Amino acid sequence: MTQVSISHLNKIYPGATTKAVDDLNLEIESGGLHALLGPSGCGKTTTMKMIAGLLMPTSGDIRFDGVSQNPIPPEKRGAVMVFQNYLLFPYMSVGENVGFGLKMRGIDQATIKKKVSEMLELVQLPGVQDRRPWQLSGGQQQRIALARALIVQPNVLLLDEPLSNLDAHLREEMRELIRTIQKDTQVTMVFVTHDQEEAVILADKIALIFDGILHQNDIPAKFYEQPATERIARFFGGVNFLPGKLEGSRFESAIGQFSAPQGVINRGTGLMSIRPESIEMGADDNASNIAKGRITSHIYMGTHTRFKVMIHDQLIQVVADPQSIHTFKEGEEVNLRFAPEKVWVLPK
Ligand SMILES: Nc1ncnc2c1ncn2[C@@H]1O[C@H](COP(=O)(O)OP(=O)(O)OP(=O)(O)O)[C@@H](O)[C@H]1O
Ligand SMILES: [Mg+2]
Repeated sequence: MTQVSISHLNKIYPGATTKAVDDLNLEIESGGLHALLGPSGCGKTTTMKMIAGLLMPTSGDIRFDGVSQNPIPPEKRGAVMVFQNYLLFPYMSVGENVGFGLKMRGIDQATIKKKVSEMLELVQLPGVQDRRPWQLSGGQQQRIALARALIVQPNVLLLDEPLSNLDAHLREEMRELIRTIQKDTQVTMVFVTHDQEEAVILADKIALIFDGILHQNDIPAKFYEQPATERIARFFGGVNFLPGKLEGSRFESAIGQFSAPQGVINRGTGLMSIRPESIEMGADDNASNIAKGRITSHIYMGTHTRFKVMIHDQLIQVVADPQSIHTFKEGEEVNLRFAPEKVWVLPK
């Protein structure tokens, strides 16, 4: 268990005009699973390589339990990185691959053999020691890469998009396995992904990065309920933004006045946001916080139905239960209710 502290970390690649990582400050809790989330090219791999010691920062500090790692070479850091393309040694057996880190440390054969068996049990692939990597499926190779990293009992395990090559079903299984291993071993994990759903499912905390800059570092639910900006809200699937002004606890917009919850911090001119799944379709005329609109389209999605509703010239998207496809018709007038506790106000 190791706490990772990143302070004022910068990386400018030689010849580059912009920073790949721009003044990153981040605390990664000991024994937790922290996701680095952001679009392609935002600096996730660069950050991971600096934590692992595979890349020197341009400036800034990375500390493990308070000890600066800048002068410490990668093999002495106790941080192990697992790459997206696994990088198993093709000429070695699976057992030799998994035991590699222990062999490098001069551990005796009998101990290595025992540890390899234990690791293969842990990743739920017992008995594949004698196979070659190419005799395994992609998902199985992925688990071998994980076993190879875990066998050296790292303090920090860095996983760089480890699941992006897998199909949906395997990805789900691997997510569960990673969570289980993390709980069992209590290793501090940093998990890179550009998939917000994956980050939400796996992580205790998410660091959202755009263009090398940390935009929000929070528990997953906060990115849905209290995103810091419109860009963050959109990255997490937010689509409804009403321009207007917050006066006291009332938000005034072109389509009406709505109560905002306690705790909204962005006063004055702003954007009211409400998630499509938080809107109630077909509320009573005398209910509070409603606006009347006309349904312009609906799509049945199996697990839910998605509606588009026009209120004056503002299009609002609503996600309702699947059966509502039978209740509400295109062209029909409906009341939408924006429950005050589900409304959030963003800076404009
Ligand atoms: N060796 C390098 N030399 C110069 N620029 C680089 C180098 N590696 C990465 N970059 C640049 O640094 C930025 C961040 O790259 P990085 O690989 O960290 O992104 P990422 O978030 O991991 O993206 P992806 O999701 O596509 O893997 C990008 O603009 C990239 O082009
Ligand atoms: Mg990357």
